[in-house]
Amino acid sequence: MRTTRWVRRSGAPRLEFGADYNPEQWPREVWDDDVRAMREAGVTIVSLGIFSWARLEPADGAFDFGWLDDVLDLLHANDILVDLATATASPPPWLTAAHPEILPIDRNGNTIWPGGRQHWRPTSKTFRTYALRLVRELATRYAEHPALCAWHVSNELGCHNIYDYSDEAAQAFREWLRSRYRTMDALNHAWGTAFWSQHYGDWSEILPPRIAATQPNPTQQLDFKRFSVDVLRDYYRAEKAILRELTPDIPVTTNFMVAGAVKDIDYTDWVDEVDFVANDHYRHPGPQSLDELSFSANLTGNLAGGEPWFLMEHSTSAVNWQPVNVAKRPGELDRDSLTHVAHGSDAVSFFQWRQSRAGAEKYHSAMLPHAGTDSAMFRSVVALGERLRGLAFVAGTRRKKAPAAIIFDWQSWWAAEQDSHPTDRLLYRREAVDWYTAFLNAGVRADVVPVTASLTDYPVVVAPILHVIPADLGARLTTYVQNGGHLVTTYFSGIVDENDHIWLGGYPGPLRDALGLRIEEFAPLLDDEQAELDNGTTGTLWTDRIEVAPDTEVLASYKTGEMAGRPAVTRHPFGAGSAGYVSTRLGPDGITPVLAEFLSRAGVTSELPPDLRGRVELAVRDNVRFLINRTDDPIDLGPDGRLAPRGVAVLR
Ligand code: GAL
Repeated sequence: MRTTRWVRRSGAPRLEFGADYNPEQWPREVWDDDVRAMREAGVTIVSLGIFSWARLEPADGAFDFGWLDDVLDLLHANDILVDLATATASPPPWLTAAHPEILPIDRNGNTIWPGGRQHWRPTSKTFRTYALRLVRELATRYAEHPALCAWHVSNELGCHNIYDYSDEAAQAFREWLRSRYRTMDALNHAWGTAFWSQHYGDWSEILPPRIAATQPNPTQQLDFKRFSVDVLRDYYRAEKAILRELTPDIPVTTNFMVAGAVKDIDYTDWVDEVDFVANDHYRHPGPQSLDELSFSANLTGNLAGGEPWFLMEHSTSAVNWQPVNVAKRPGELDRDSLTHVAHGSDAVSFFQWRQSRAGAEKYHSAMLPHAGTDSAMFRSVVALGERLRGLAFVAGTRRKKAPAAIIFDWQSWWAAEQDSHPTDRLLYRREAVDWYTAFLNAGVRADVVPVTASLTDYPVVVAPILHVIPADLGARLTTYVQNGGHLVTTYFSGIVDENDHIWLGGYPGPLRDALGLRIEEFAPLLDDEQAELDNGTTGTLWTDRIEVAPDTEVLASYKTGEMAGRPAVTRHPFGAGSAGYVSTRLGPDGITPVLAEFLSRAGVTSELPPDLRGRVELAVRDNVRFLINRTDDPIDLGPDGRLAPRGVAVLR
């Protein structure tokens, strides 16, 4: 059972405001300027020491904490809290030189060399020994430091090093498989090894899915993903155990990456590991950029069970790692920050405090840019700090449950996008965000929830590309509908079980009865093909050859070509509820009218006045309403005032 804690501090509730702080990149005298400017901006907290291992332990066993003492004291003297990193994210050169066996190996057998960051094998016992020694030293030294308010384990675990195909990983993978399957027979069954002469006679024959002559075994690939997440969780637990032992009163967390296409860690049960949820988010340019931000913040808030969470990193403006790094436009700094707050974050923190002068991230924006404090950026940061101080009443409030939910499932994301499928064009998260955009267009709030969440209180549940449906999930969804819920799902849902084995007898096996339909064959579309529907929308990517039950209503049919006259969108009354199906990719514009119909049939209406629907996003925390301008134009809120372009109103 999860117990939420928060950064250790006393005083009235407030929203925390801060950044990653990397003072080791600057001469000592700059630190004084830093804290002066932090005070001016109203910074309350910094994450410190994330990449400091080489400075803290310049040689094997020789620790140098003097400079960090100095920084912590300086910050404390200026009332700034420290979320202290365990500094283990990136091993120093002396360590990898002495122990090259900690370097990861990619699937082609190439070594991942030092020179960047995070070049360590999650299964390396040697790495763990050195890293845990550092954690123990740090925790011992700073246990009583009054600035210490939280521990920040490593950094974005798995960001660059999640998949390691070394012999050490192979050994750990075998042990993991042994505890999952117990017997060779069970593994052979799960992996379907009767296929292509893959039958294993002994655990020692098993390898990670290294580069192979053709498509590697799909269940082996899935299990390797699951294993790789578990290994990192185990590593996190090892650091946490030391921190708990030495500093039981200090909460421990690590920053998740619920953001865009970052898909390698299934965070569904990671929330049980952290004392409070922390997340990093960066936007990608594009028409759904803001919707994606809201989607990620929403999912993070629901991973946290509706409790406040901590936005550990986002950017004040451009990043440095996209093909073109777009600067934020006026209003976006506040709007992005407040959208995270609207979805439950009680903190607004950035990567990073002072823009680097050297190194790979010198073009990444920061709170204090190269131009210095006399800059539009710094003035905007100061203004944001002031605004957040005025929103202290938001701190501690919980997300208010929405009238609808979108199910998010990492297992389906992984499985649906594997190779050797009906199409390699399918993108799981894009479909989910498209549905989210359609909810925003309708002005109806939807919670983006992990697949394990209870669905019973949601009148409407959308499950986009819920590809993996184990028997118990199939039963849970069917019961949800029987008991009066309205479920909507899409193409390529309910196709396989947890072993990636097809449900037989017509797709989608576990949902056939509830949906009142049966699919015998998928008919994916080529890039230049489209499927016209008779409701005026257009499908791409996918179609299904559907047979419907007599009592299934066809809401839209295909209009042209081979598929002409066949059902495209259906709805089936089942028990006290209904189950809807969308067999093609409609995109946000096509989903919008289809969703509107599903919502109206389910009796779900917008909480916004008609003229605001679509233009404004509504998010609610207890009695606080956030109205987020989705447009670049001002919006009149009537008695509630006026929203600036890209503006956010927070109303009580
Ligand atoms: C994050 C990382 C930070 C910084 C940032 C840049 O993934 O945790 O250290 O690199 O990206 O956007």
